[in-house]
Amino acid sequence: MRRLEGRTAIVTGSGQGIGEAIAMAMAEEGASVVVAELREDTAAAVRRRIEEAGGTALAHATDVSRDASVDAMVEACLDRFGKVDILVNNAGIYPTSTVEDMAEDEWERVIGTNLFGTFLCSRAVTPHMLRQRSGRIISITSGRGLQGAGNGAHYAASKSGIIGFTKSLALELAPAGIAVNCICPGVSDTAQPRGHRTEEELYASAARIPLGRIGQPRDMAKAAVFLASDRGRFVTGQTVVVNGGAIMQ
Ligand SMILES: NC(=O)c1ccc[n+]([C@@H]2O[C@H](COP(=O)([O-])OP(=O)(O)OC[C@H]3O[C@@H](n4cnc5c(N)ncnc54)[C@H](O)[C@@H]3O)[C@@H](O)[C@H]2O)c1
Repeated sequence: MRRLEGRTAIVTGSGQGIGEAIAMAMAEEGASVVVAELREDTAAAVRRRIEEAGGTALAHATDVSRDASVDAMVEACLDRFGKVDILVNNAGIYPTSTVEDMAEDEWERVIGTNLFGTFLCSRAVTPHMLRQRSGRIISITSGRGLQGAGNGAHYAASKSGIIGFTKSLALELAPAGIAVNCICPGVSDTAQPRGHRTEEELYASAARIPLGRIGQPRDMAKAAVFLASDRGRFVTGQTVVVNGGAIMQ
């Protein structure tokens, strides 16, 4: 028996990287997946990959930072699949800048996508999960949210904010049996860190990781499937750190 058979999962920012791996893994475990991604082309490509692997998916061009776009995506999910059981707030951006040089619109863009987007998507699915008295909300935070980021205070603030938001929503939704958690990746093999590190720096990070390598998107996908499945049913309000031991809490 597959672990997410019959469930419906929305995965934001799932056109590539960690989100794509989570979408693919949830589909493999039997979930119908909404690929809720800003870029229409990558959303469609991931939908095709899921279908080619025998899964079920809907691609929806979505901007998580816009209320109307999020509502339209959740409506499309309900129209096609009739319910939403799992939300993965994965969409995130990480431009770099010192606070001194940071433009207000860059601050707003980062908080708007990473934190406000997590709020908008969570708020949009909550009434449906409350009605069915079940559901899982999983948000992707970052080691930067625990340790700070020398050149990305907006990013670190958004990711710390996701942890506080998660604990609060977990308290709010626990009486209805809805679990809300974070996954905290360390440096992982995707496009995002390549925006501010050379290839050499990226792989050199492995030297500081006790398990001796940087993260792979599938490492996060395994944690997401655990939290979304029956195996994770008694876990809520937590930050599951998946980083090879780079930060030990
Ligand atoms: N890769 C890492 O080292 C790392 C480490 C810690 C945390 N994370 C977090 O993991 C998540 C995924 O990261 P990744 O490395 O796969 O990044 P990525 O840049 O490869 O992918 C991010 C995806 O989100 C999409 N996106 C961006 N803005 C969006 C919006 N407004 N609405 C919908 N989709 C949007 C992008 O188009 C892209 O497909 C992010 O939240 C990131 O902050 C990544």
